Amino acid sequence: MRLINRLILGAVGLGLLVLNGCNKTPRLGKDPVKKVIAAMTLEEKAYFVTGTGRNMAAPGNLKKEDRSPGAPAVGQTQELVPGAAGTTYEIPRLGIPAMVMADGPAGLRILPIRENDRATYYCTAFPVSTLIASTWNPDLAYKVGQAMGNEVLEYGVDVLLGPAMNIHRNPLCGRDFEYYSEDPLVTGTIAASVVNGIESQGVGTSTKHFAANNTETNRNALDTIVSERALREIYLEGFRIAVEESKPWTVMSSYNLINGVPASENYDLLTKVLCDDWGFKGLVMSDWFGGTDSVAQMSAGNDLLMPGTVAQANAIIKAVRERRLDEAILNRNIERILNVLVQTPRFKGHKPTNKPDLTAHAAVARAAATEGMVLLKNSSGALPLAAGTRVAAFGNTSYETITGGTGSGHVNEAYSISLAEGLKNAGYSVNKELRDSYERYLRTARQNGPKARPYMPPQLIQEMTIAPALAARIASEADAALITIGRNSGEFFDRKVDGDFNLTQAETDLIKAISDAFHSRRKKAIVVLNIGGVIETKSWKELPDGILLAWQAGQESGNSIADVISGKVNPSGKLASTFPARYEDVPSSRNFPGVVIDAAPAKVESVQADGMSAFRNPKASRITYEEGIYIGYRYYESFGVKPVYEFGYGLSYASFDYGKLSLSSQNFTGEITATLDVKNTGKVAGKETVQVYITAPSRKLDKPAMELKAFTKTRLLNPGETQTLTFVLKPRQLSSFDPVASSWIAEAGKYEVRVGASSRDIRQTASFSLDSDLMVKKESVGLVPKTKINELKRGSGTI
Ligand code: BGC
Repeated sequence: MRLINRLILGAVGLGLLVLNGCNKTPRLGKDPVKKVIAAMTLEEKAYFVTGTGRNMAAPGNLKKEDRSPGAPAVGQTQELVPGAAGTTYEIPRLGIPAMVMADGPAGLRILPIRENDRATYYCTAFPVSTLIASTWNPDLAYKVGQAMGNEVLEYGVDVLLGPAMNIHRNPLCGRDFEYYSEDPLVTGTIAASVVNGIESQGVGTSTKHFAANNTETNRNALDTIVSERALREIYLEGFRIAVEESKPWTVMSSYNLINGVPASENYDLLTKVLCDDWGFKGLVMSDWFGGTDSVAQMSAGNDLLMPGTVAQANAIIKAVRERRLDEAILNRNIERILNVLVQTPRFKGHKPTNKPDLTAHAAVARAAATEGMVLLKNSSGALPLAAGTRVAAFGNTSYETITGGTGSGHVNEAYSISLAEGLKNAGYSVNKELRDSYERYLRTARQNGPKARPYMPPQLIQEMTIAPALAARIASEADAALITIGRNSGEFFDRKVDGDFNLTQAETDLIKAISDAFHSRRKKAIVVLNIGGVIETKSWKELPDGILLAWQAGQESGNSIADVISGKVNPSGKLASTFPARYEDVPSSRNFPGVVIDAAPAKVESVQADGMSAFRNPKASRITYEEGIYIGYRYYESFGVKPVYEFGYGLSYASFDYGKLSLSSQNFTGEITATLDVKNTGKVAGKETVQVYITAPSRKLDKPAMELKAFTKTRLLNPGETQTLTFVLKPRQLSSFDPVASSWIAEAGKYEVRVGASSRDIRQTASFSLDSDLMVKKESVGLVPKTKINELKRGSGTI
């Protein structure tokens, strides 16, 4: 088949050669890209901008008879790396190889075991992005990226479909674990480091999902109604930082609509903002089967449609023939794709070894995991646990520790270390009677429970009831209790409040029963949270002595948790998203997950082309971001709503003193440098993340009480050691987006600099003034909502 297609292509090529007056056929890499494009047939062009389709459950997608005559051959491209999410067409006569793309944010997702192949292709499961953000350590994020990128390279993939960097708008979003933070500065800074790390290996990234993809429910047909200002300041800002600081090879547009226009068909978003305002030079690809109108996608600047369908290619051919699509636009998009393609390892002839150093990468995963865990509570030094402590591990996820979320963010790792195993590896003795009964309980529950659906998380197994007599016996045998609470989520659905954001009754009962049993013997009980997103803590946090937020920490989870519990690593993670007192306190809680506006299934590509569409069948819906810019701490701090654990919060086994904050000037002229000393006043070495918030004057524009404008993590400071930290504040950090002027404006007046250990633990303040308004940057006009949004403003009360 492949041979026949090649023969046909060869004949076409020969014909063109004759027509071109015997000119040599240009080849990518040898001849200018524009010349190569000029030599492509319309069919080749249309198929080249639509990927080769998906090799699973896509009935009809690749039926030969549907394909236009002259379409390039699919050939073996889909099988180049089994389990990869998509590939582009190869056009051998022009020297164009395929480009292979695979997920995702926590490590490479490919098929680990393959038919007729004795080799294995396991990848490292790194900690989820929420944890990486909680490290507040861009250098570490870079190292994680490097290790991930190396696996991408050595397994023959060209572009990793990550990092995912949507904002944590609501804790119920099923994919929050793939995303970093409620704050765009943390999101953008960490994502840029991850991109730089991955791309240092000579492979590409796809920062996704551009943009405002903060909900999974009805994601393909959800119209996000959001103000220009909230878009610019909150939902686009992280992407801007990543684009400017790391120049990702590709950006993936999102499924949702923004103010009535699908993101992948959105000219304002993909051309005006991304290319004109930010100078993006890479290619934009759609999310898988995203959008409905391939011609509109081409025109908007969505260069590549993934995974690509024959129908899309045919629609493009027809539109060019009927002059509804200017071929010059197609050429522009192809040029962008080719400019990326020439950088790929496949184009450069790199031969994948299929043998990345998984041992070294596991060490990177373990180190990153320990640094992103957040110590939420540690009454009277409950942690660390001394060597030799006899530990009783309660909770299902002590034995089936969740390493990461599901869907495209899942990684096929070779092994994973449970908490119980990690404790054992660290030399603790783990109560055997308890371990045996949990393992028995979990086995039976799995056997009798529903079969796990592909791509979906296994059902949460209810915590078993520990009889008081058993609790008492174990409490007398063991020295300390660890109680894990686990959560899993993923693509296609959002979490629920009851039994997911809130603990189940069985979980609360477990924490209470075990804490009581251990306390009555003057022993400690520690809760370990094995979760991917924010949960409720207020109702139970007084019960245990300590709470360690371990997140979903990748394949080395158990070892990493044990490193922190033992004090081998002093915890230094801080929250990159707020833990509110109750779900109702979340400013977006009234506008999540949107309202259905048409009960009939929406006509989207995924329904037609995707065999697994049962749970993806979206309904046209709308979600209105009435909270505007007041997301996370911007809301809690501005409206006096006290969270349980605030943004930026996290304890250490050490303590830190903040010296006096000095500013280089009292008056802002171009930039100001803020300097202060941080001293480790504790008994063990530790790292501290220092956060710089600004309170800006608000004459014309409504402003949050404070906004994070810079942060730094100290090096590992020994007891008594001091480090001087310096922060440079530039006009951009003083400015807010004024939609009337389509510009970032710094208003004249007094600016307060608040330096703290968290958003509520401000240790030093100083102020400076700006004499007159500063127009910092003019942006393109667009993305304007068509209807008025009843947006939250300070003074308008809480919502
Ligand atoms: C997800 C993307 C992913 C793609 C390919 C989509 O369902 O939204 O994040 O990269 O699938 O697997």
